[in-house]
Amino acid sequence: MSVDVLIPEAAIRDRLRELGGEVARDYAGKPLTIVAVLTGSLIALADLIRAVDVPHRIGLVHASSYRGATTTASTLVINETLAPDVADRDVLLLDDILDTGQTLAALVDHIAQRGAKSVRTAVLLRKIGRQTVPIEPDYCGFTIPDAFVVGYGLDYDDDYRHLPYVGVLKT
Ligand code: XMP
Repeated sequence: MSVDVLIPEAAIRDRLRELGGEVARDYAGKPLTIVAVLTGSLIALADLIRAVDVPHRIGLVHASSYRGATTTASTLVINETLAPDVADRDVLLLDDILDTGQTLAALVDHIAQRGAKSVRTAVLLRKIGRQTVPIEPDYCGFTIPDAFVVGYGLDYDDDYRHLPYVGVLKT
């Protein structure tokens, strides 16, 4: 298998800096907690928060619906062993990719039920033409065509996460 570069490293860096600046402006003076969805958004989290120049906490939640090469979502399993206390916090939920929208929509509900003051969403990538659940991300890095992508945290069968760019996996 090979990977064709779709979004180069420098473009991701620049876009996350922009988004981080927007987040900082929008949340100045607010009790912000950025909650990243493991595992795919780890690298985006690390890069985004270094551009969010206002005090904030970070937290993690694990959600999985994809197993290996699966292309359709199965039941979403939320594991919040690592999840932070979000009561009375303004939460920004960060995911790697918005595909059908099921993951993000379920997690927004979940975090709201945990007593968050507000819940908004950020995604690094949004796939065109795949969404089945109506949710609009508040911050979006890039829209991409309907292809299976890897790199910059995104995996195929737990591999390729380390690539510094986002690429399309060619079988
Ligand atoms: P939904 O359909 O719930 O899916 O919006 C979001 C989750 O699906 C995974 N996903 C991908 N992972 N390459 C990946 O490595 C892809 O092209 C892809 N499309 C969806 C991902 O875990 C995301 O959080």
